[in-house]
Amino acid sequence: MPKRTQAGLLFACFILFQTANSQKAGLAWPNGNFNDIRQYTSTGKVTWYYTWSPNPVRSDLEFVSMLWGRDQIDTFTSMINKTISQNGVTHVLGFNEPQQPGQSNLTAEEGAELWRTYLGPLKSQGIRLGTPAPSSAPSGKTWLQDWLTACAGGCNPDFVALHWYDVNATQFQLYLEDFHDTFQLPIWVTEWADHNFNGDDQPSFDEVVSFLNQTQSFMDATDWVERYAWFGVMENMQDVGYNNAMMDSQGDITDLGRQYIGGGSAEGGSAPSAVSSASSRRFRTQFSALPPRISSAIMALTALPGLLQELIFL
Ligand SMILES: *[C@@H]1O[C@H](CO)[C@@H](O)[C@H](O)[C@H]1NC(C)=O
Ligand SMILES: *[C@@H]1O[C@H](CO)[C@@H](O)[C@H](O)[C@H]1NC(C)=O
Ligand SMILES: *[C@@H]1O[C@H](CO)[C@@H](O)[C@H](O)[C@H]1NC(C)=O
Ligand SMILES: *[C@@H]1O[C@H](CO)[C@@H](O)[C@H](O)[C@H]1NC(C)=O
Repeated sequence: MPKRTQAGLLFACFILFQTANSQKAGLAWPNGNFNDIRQYTSTGKVTWYYTWSPNPVRSDLEFVSMLWGRDQIDTFTSMINKTISQNGVTHVLGFNEPQQPGQSNLTAEEGAELWRTYLGPLKSQGIRLGTPAPSSAPSGKTWLQDWLTACAGGCNPDFVALHWYDVNATQFQLYLEDFHDTFQLPIWVTEWADHNFNGDDQPSFDEVVSFLNQTQSFMDATDWVERYAWFGVMENMQDVGYNNAMMDSQGDITDLGRQYIGGGSAEGGSAPSAVSSASSRRFRTQFSALPPRISSAIMALTALPGLLQELIFL
């Protein structure tokens, strides 16, 4: 065939490939090396992960480091250059839900000061930086605006990171569009799920399946959404509904997890049940049996809220 047609076809294939393998899907991974991360990489759709901490796990996926909040400063400063040289870290995430007292709990001014001290300097090492990631409570956007004001032009994030929990896929899309319009930066959704935090009425499994499909399709097709990571890929979903679980209580990938990685619709499938006290015990035993170096890596994960934290400390 003529060269130009050939080139055109190649280009079309390239675009198709890019859409199918959008390189956006990631894993928010609190499981250390206990569960097999390779279950999520078989299709090639998942390309990166983060651990809510500066500590990587054993995986060929791209590691994205994070400074969760004040409590992680020491670990972060001791780990960051090592992970840049050994794990090829090119992106770093800022503080976790800074406007929430139960999370990293920072005023905009504190956030600006910590950013200028520990994150901003990484830009000179070629690292791209994500903003602190506010929760989707109305205070989240305000916090981010106040933070930029407090930075007085001195923070220069490369993308906005955010979390979103609610039950309407259209509203998810509108929320992302609003953040994109407001901040004029690419978006990373570093936690999202189909969960209602404003009442007891939770979506059915089929509703979650459809919500995931709609929101993920939207992000795959939207060029200013650079990356996303669902909540959650974990045995214990803490206070988020188990219909959103991409891992069961045995540490195995669920039907929803297979859908997320492009392995086929979870329609007609099922969600795992909540972790039993027996498997919580198993989890606990695993943690206390850890070698010190690994358990200190896991300690960095104590930034995680709620039940998981209890499991680690019990
Ligand atoms: C990391 O390395 C750079 C030089 O490559 C150095 O300027 C910086 O202080 C180091 N950061 C930490 C936290 O040690
Ligand atoms: C959040 O920080 C404020 C100080 O800014 C402190 O008074 C409060 O106790 C903190 N909340 C939690 C839950 O740690
Ligand atoms: C979802 O949100 C959109 C936009 O606010 C609204 O038009 C629609 O009615 C909502 N859907 C449901 C089922 O509430
Ligand atoms: C959403 O569902 C449609 C129809 O089943 C499918 O073609 C598409 O690949 C799905 N997209 C995602 C991101 O799951």
